[in-house]
Amino acid sequence: MILGVAVLLTGCAQTHVGIPVAAVEPGRSKFDAHCAGCHVIDAVTSGYAPTLEGASWVTGPEGLIIRIVLHGVGGPIEVAGQTHDLSMPGFESILTDAEIAAVVSYVRSRFGGISTPVSAATVRQIREANQGRREYWTAAELLALD
Ligand code: HEC
Repeated sequence: MILGVAVLLTGCAQTHVGIPVAAVEPGRSKFDAHCAGCHVIDAVTSGYAPTLEGASWVTGPEGLIIRIVLHGVGGPIEVAGQTHDLSMPGFESILTDAEIAAVVSYVRSRFGGISTPVSAATVRQIREANQGRREYWTAAELLALD
């Protein structure tokens, strides 16, 4: 019986998103704490910020979403065929490289179906390359980098 429960629990530990729980769970708690309040994440909880579900910013090159999370984004941005003109603050001084890597990996997995995690080293590299940056990114600037 105990063995049965253990097997059951082990079975549950495999997530539906295709990457091990350990790789996404820290990202999920950061997401709930820092992103879910603003973003439209499903039909039930709707925020004022654009959707992440399948958005090209989520499924596209990891460097763009990492920059958005580090320094924010503002001004006109097209998401899933709709243009928004709002602003999102950056998390440069709130989240560590590892935390940003975890939350971005989680977002790309959950909303973009991308199972390759982003590494903390990549986040550090982008953070260092943009040290001293105070302005939000614009969508046009980000797309020019792509
Ligand atoms: C204070 C509200 C707020 C918070 C918190 C926030 N965002 Fe945003 N986010 C926005 C807004 C508003 C935009 C659109 C900005 C614009 O119009 O230029 C945006 C844009 C984005 C985009 C590009 C557009 C899209 O929807 O695909 C991504 C990706 C994104 N945010 C991810 C995140 C992640 C990951 C977090 C948590 C680490 C987060 N955001 C936290 C408000 C927020």
